[in-house]
Amino acid sequence: MASVHILNHPLIQHKLTILRSKDTSVKEFRELVREISSLMCYEATRNLPTQEVEVQTPVGVAKAQVLAGKKLAIVPVLRAGLGMVDAMVDLIPSAKIGHIGLYRDPDTHEPVKYYCKMPNDIAQRQVFVVDPMLATGGSAVAAISFIKEYGCKYITLMDIIAAPEGIAAVRKAHPDVDIFVAAVDEGLNDHAYIVPGLGDAGDRIFGTK
Ligand code: PRP
Ligand code: URA
Repeated sequence: MASVHILNHPLIQHKLTILRSKDTSVKEFRELVREISSLMCYEATRNLPTQEVEVQTPVGVAKAQVLAGKKLAIVPVLRAGLGMVDAMVDLIPSAKIGHIGLYRDPDTHEPVKYYCKMPNDIAQRQVFVVDPMLATGGSAVAAISFIKEYGCKYITLMDIIAAPEGIAAVRKAHPDVDIFVAAVDEGLNDHAYIVPGLGDAGDRIFGTK
């Protein structure tokens, strides 16, 4: 079974505290999502395989490491996952990007799919699904199921804040998927929002409220 990794690095936690504040502006919120995503990407890619190569330096030949194994893909869950993509691509410029559009029905809280476009060779890639919020887990479970339908076997989920309910749902439906989060909060309110969370991530990234 895969694992849940809680990234309690001081830089991530400091930035997350500012991210949560209701007084943080849209501009600052976007910048913080990007910075936290960059730090989380660094941790979530820690175990990628490498292989030794030789590189000619101006002074001699160094035995050095390069990434080996599967190529990578990043799949943001629209909308809010888009806020995490640039940070990932900065660090993994050769990654391809797939998109899954899901919104939660306001009454049932069930995910509704409205868009899906994956790279042709997604089945051969290691996939990082990114979304700032893991609440009921419905969106993440659905997103991972769609990706598996393409034949993907190596999937990692990255969320900034998770509720215990969301983690349990993903673990139950997709026990093979590693989960990286910056925080696990208390739970969900009656509207299936994470408490204390940070509110609506999509609205705060895009300034739609
Ligand atoms: C948010 C969030 C996740 C989902 C998490 O998206 O970005 O995708 O809710 O909730 P869940 O774990 O209960 O499924 P939302 O549906 O608000 O859409 P948006 O990103 O377009 O605002
Ligand atoms: N989606 C959000 O943006 N925030 C939550 O707390 C739950 C779902």
